Amino acid sequence: MPIEIMSMLSQQRPKERPTPRPGIMAIHAYVPGKASAPGAAKVYKLSSNETPLGPSPQAIEAYRGVAGHLEDYPDGAATELREAIGRAFGLDPARIVCGFGSDDLLTLLARAYLADGDEAIHTTHGFLVYPIATLSTGAKPVVAAETNYTADVDAILAAVTERTRIVFLANPNNPTGTYLPFDEVQRLHRGLPPRVLLVLDAAYAEYVRRNDYQSGIELVATSENVVMCRTFSKIHGLAALRLGWMYGPEHVVDAVNRIRGPFNVNAAASAAGVAAVGDTGHVERSVAYNGKWLAWLTAAIGKLGLTVTPSVANFILIHFPRTTGRTAAEADKVLTARGLILRQVGAYGLPHALRMSVGTEEANRLVVATLAEFMARPDAHG
Ligand SMILES: Cc1ncc(COP(=O)(O)O)c(C=O)c1O
Repeated sequence: MPIEIMSMLSQQRPKERPTPRPGIMAIHAYVPGKASAPGAAKVYKLSSNETPLGPSPQAIEAYRGVAGHLEDYPDGAATELREAIGRAFGLDPARIVCGFGSDDLLTLLARAYLADGDEAIHTTHGFLVYPIATLSTGAKPVVAAETNYTADVDAILAAVTERTRIVFLANPNNPTGTYLPFDEVQRLHRGLPPRVLLVLDAAYAEYVRRNDYQSGIELVATSENVVMCRTFSKIHGLAALRLGWMYGPEHVVDAVNRIRGPFNVNAAASAAGVAAVGDTGHVERSVAYNGKWLAWLTAAIGKLGLTVTPSVANFILIHFPRTTGRTAAEADKVLTARGLILRQVGAYGLPHALRMSVGTEEANRLVVATLAEFMARPDAHG
């Protein structure tokens, strides 16, 4: 269209236009981890906490099996998947809701329980979806301070007001990799008014190998105001399919079922999920692999003079000096040039750190070798 006509048309546009509800324009849209490293011969994506082992071969086969029936709508209630999860965890399938990733469920919980002027608490370096989901409802995100990059129960309880409706707690937390022992989660729950919904986001639960950790199943089963969210994106290696689930009290399940998309889990995701949750051997191998390389990376990077926050998940948070030549931004540049994509975590209030997913042996060794060279560079000063 000629420029004169375009400008004429734009002058004719009315001044008034639709505006989003309060809160929407305060949202900083979620920026996923980078996926490319221009110029690098080979790319190692270590930026989104995906598994280096991929999904169970049985899940891939089940996924392929759906290809012959793409014209049919899926079962809107995801019955087979809920039953498979129920069998695997000993849960009543009627108290499970599946979603398009656990992001979907976190957002649905916010929509179901928050309104204009309400408050939802998350911790300083909590998962970014919590403030996004909160703001999208017109409610206010309230930040509770952490201690040593770990959720602090006293700080969360101190942040509770008359307006608090939800507490979001990632346990373990992303991007710090730290966790709260179960007795602390119980103490948090005891301190919350019954009207406050405690959302335990256990996306990384399978990776945790600590006797004092629990994902929250027991607490959900014995209370009326706790929900646990889980994902197939991490240990099950199905991030591309977008699949998560939550376990909650009957009344919360009922509320979420009323507002979720009628077919929010597609047939391929559902079939792959059923197979994945049944392949306990694959999960065990993934846990063992992660345990070995998490410890190796933590020790090897620590020896370079960098601080690594002790993690129980499938990623580590690496803290860099603020000295010119040694900063997180400069390290990121050097790593990216070699195809090693870590996650910048400035948006999480951690501008001097990078988060690294546990990767393949090749990727892990390459990161350590590259960081060793980086730390030995002569050009640091200041
Ligand atoms: C703490 C936490 N919760 C939830 C999610 C989202 O998982 P999903 O892929 O199921 O939406 C992530 C993904 O990074 C996460 O780190």
